[in-house]
Amino acid sequence: MTIKAIVFDAYGTLYDIQSVASATDEAFPGYGDLITQIWRIKQLEYTWQRTAMGRYEDFSVVTRESLAYCLKLLGLKNEPATFERIMDKYVHLALYPDAKAMLAALKDRKLAILSNGSTDMLNALVKNTGLDTILDATISIDSERVFKPSPKTYALIEKYLGVKPAEVLFISSNPFDVCGAKAFGLKVAWIERVTEEAMASEYKPGQPVTPLFMFKALRTQMDTLGHEPDYRIRALSELPALVASI
Ligand code: LAC
Repeated sequence: MTIKAIVFDAYGTLYDIQSVASATDEAFPGYGDLITQIWRIKQLEYTWQRTAMGRYEDFSVVTRESLAYCLKLLGLKNEPATFERIMDKYVHLALYPDAKAMLAALKDRKLAILSNGSTDMLNALVKNTGLDTILDATISIDSERVFKPSPKTYALIEKYLGVKPAEVLFISSNPFDVCGAKAFGLKVAWIERVTEEAMASEYKPGQPVTPLFMFKALRTQMDTLGHEPDYRIRALSELPALVASI
C-alpha cells in the first residue's frame, strides 16, 4: 500500500464554501451571491498578503477582515449581530454530499484535514458536521503562522501523522493549494469541479458575467505555474477507485 495517508483541504474541498450564500442572502437580500464570491476571493488574497507581509493573523481574523471589506465596498451596514450570524456559517458549512461515503470507503488509510482554518474554527466545523469521529487528525496551519501555499504548512502532515510525503495523497479543489502541495513534493489529486469546457461554454461574448463566473474563473481553474496535479477527478466520490488504482 503506497498511499498510507489521505489528507484533505477543507474549505472548497470537503466543505462547500458556496453554502455561506444562505446566510449572506438572508442578511442582505439581493446581495448574497456578490458577497459570497467577493468574500471568498478576498479571504484568500488576505492570507497571501498577510503571509508575504510577515503579518500573520489567524484565519478567523482574515475571514472577518474580508467580510468587513465586502460590506464596506457595497455600502452595507455592518451590525454586530448580523455580522456574527454570517460568520457562524463558517462553523456550519455544508459537506459535499459525497464526502462521508467517500471517507467511510477509505477508512483503512490515515485520514486527515490540513487547512488554513484556525484550530478553533476547524475543530468546531469538524465536530458540527460529524467528521470528528472519522478523521485521524485535523491539522491547522496555525502553529507555523504562515498560510498555504507555504511549504511549512505541508510539512505539518509528516509531523502530525508520521507519514513520509511520498506516502501521502493530498486532495484539494483549490488550484493554488494543488500547486503548493506539488511544489512541496506530495502526490496530489485535484478535484476539478468546473471544467475548462464548462467555463468556455458558459461565457457568452459581450454579455455581462456573474459574480460566480468570476469566482470560478479566478479560483477553480488550474494555475499555469508549472505544477500540475498527479491525478484529476471530478468529485470526491471518485477517490476510492483512484486510491485503489495507485
Ligand atoms: C483551506 C483553504 C485552502 O481549507 O480553503 O486550507
